[in-house]
Amino acid sequence: MSDTTNPSGWTKPTIDSTALLEVADRSLLRHAGPFDGLLVERASGTNIWDREGNRYLDFTSGQLCATFGHNPVELRDAILSSFDRAVHSSSLLLSEEVIRLAERLLELLPPALSKVVLLSTGSEATEVGLRAAKTATGRWETIGVSRSYHGHTAGAAAVTFLPRRQGSGPSQPGVHAIPAPYCFRCPLGASYPECGFACVDVGMATVDAQRTSEIAACIIEPVLSTGGMIEPPDGYLARLRDRCDERGIQLILDEAQTGLGRTGDMFAFESAGVVPDIVALSKTLGGGFPLAAVAVTDTIAEEAERNGLRFLTSHMNEPSMALIGLAMLSLAEEHVRRGSAAKQGMRLRTALTNLLDDTEIIGDVRGRGLLLGVEFVTDRTSLKPDPEAATSIAAACRRRGLLIQVVAGNVWRIAPPITVTDDEVDHAVSIIRNSLVEHERYGTPDRINRPLVRR
Ligand SMILES: Cc1ncc(COP(=O)(O)O)c(C=O)c1O
Repeated sequence: MSDTTNPSGWTKPTIDSTALLEVADRSLLRHAGPFDGLLVERASGTNIWDREGNRYLDFTSGQLCATFGHNPVELRDAILSSFDRAVHSSSLLLSEEVIRLAERLLELLPPALSKVVLLSTGSEATEVGLRAAKTATGRWETIGVSRSYHGHTAGAAAVTFLPRRQGSGPSQPGVHAIPAPYCFRCPLGASYPECGFACVDVGMATVDAQRTSEIAACIIEPVLSTGGMIEPPDGYLARLRDRCDERGIQLILDEAQTGLGRTGDMFAFESAGVVPDIVALSKTLGGGFPLAAVAVTDTIAEEAERNGLRFLTSHMNEPSMALIGLAMLSLAEEHVRRGSAAKQGMRLRTALTNLLDDTEIIGDVRGRGLLLGVEFVTDRTSLKPDPEAATSIAAACRRRGLLIQVVAGNVWRIAPPITVTDDEVDHAVSIIRNSLVEHERYGTPDRINRPLVRR
């Protein structure tokens, strides 16, 4: 029944997993609901092994950070070599590797983006992007897109329009939302392309009516991932760019998930033919270590510096993280050149799209490169969202050794490392097909067959 195997050389842990989970239950604060019951023992490439020796194909790339696989040798070499130099230094004390990372990033980005800030997390990158735009323009109001996610710190949560922004009191004033470009369920009931990007124009007109001063920035993910794997239609970003330009609004693209090769391009904005004023990068840049960056245009850099931009954390400009960043950029360049995400994305997407012939409960397959979404519905006539099917089939996939994340209730986010092999893609698809068949035949016996750590 199970497709899991023992990796060679693995020996049974001496501490019982149930006992360990009980310790977790007693000692770890639940900061985002219950923890998963899978206890990770080790990871390599596309694989994760639990303490019992079960192997899972990780089609989540961890938290979307292991874009070049888990534990790549380049990552190990980079971190080890930092011990021959400096692991850490004061945030305003620079090193050659930090300066080289800034230079390499700018070489990869369009020339309009000319200065870089090095940080630790994606949430910080959102904070700095917004802060740079506000300081440079002297404005303070901002725009986000509904169903978008930009992080959990206060400023990032303010431009995040998902339920997870709730529960910790009032948000920042002067933050506005425009409708998501969710063509599968258009919030305006329109159809693309006849709509003429009404979601942008209606959204901007609504913000114009709401705002009490000028808007500093508009932030968007090139693919609205956590909000349901929503890929804006062709021309959308260009229209948004136009409407921002008309109002002197700085356009921030949050490429946390899309940047550095996952969609097939180095940056997702390339295929949209749009150059943003500010780009935020994280996740893939650190390959599993905390490294993020924000790049801004010359004008923003100049104005923000003149107006006294302030942002400082203990881990900015870390030499160790810079060595990692340089290694990850080399991997990104190599994989973009080889077309890894585009090639394997096509293989996976074609196989997922073929499933539409076998079942009524997949409403849509979408996404770009190896950032794919599968939306579950009760049937393709009503298109009623089916979160129960999405969750229980993902659980069945896990029982067979495949990890998939469910986002926005009824959508699968499928994002394996872009180093995934043909065999791994084919094996994952067969697991998905078997799990779908099981669901359609027998329904949903249980959501998950592992203990979850809960109160
Ligand atoms: C698009 C986007 N922006 C920002 C973040 C926040 O990054 P972090 O969790 O590193 O703070 C995430 C995290 O998932 C993200 O997907």
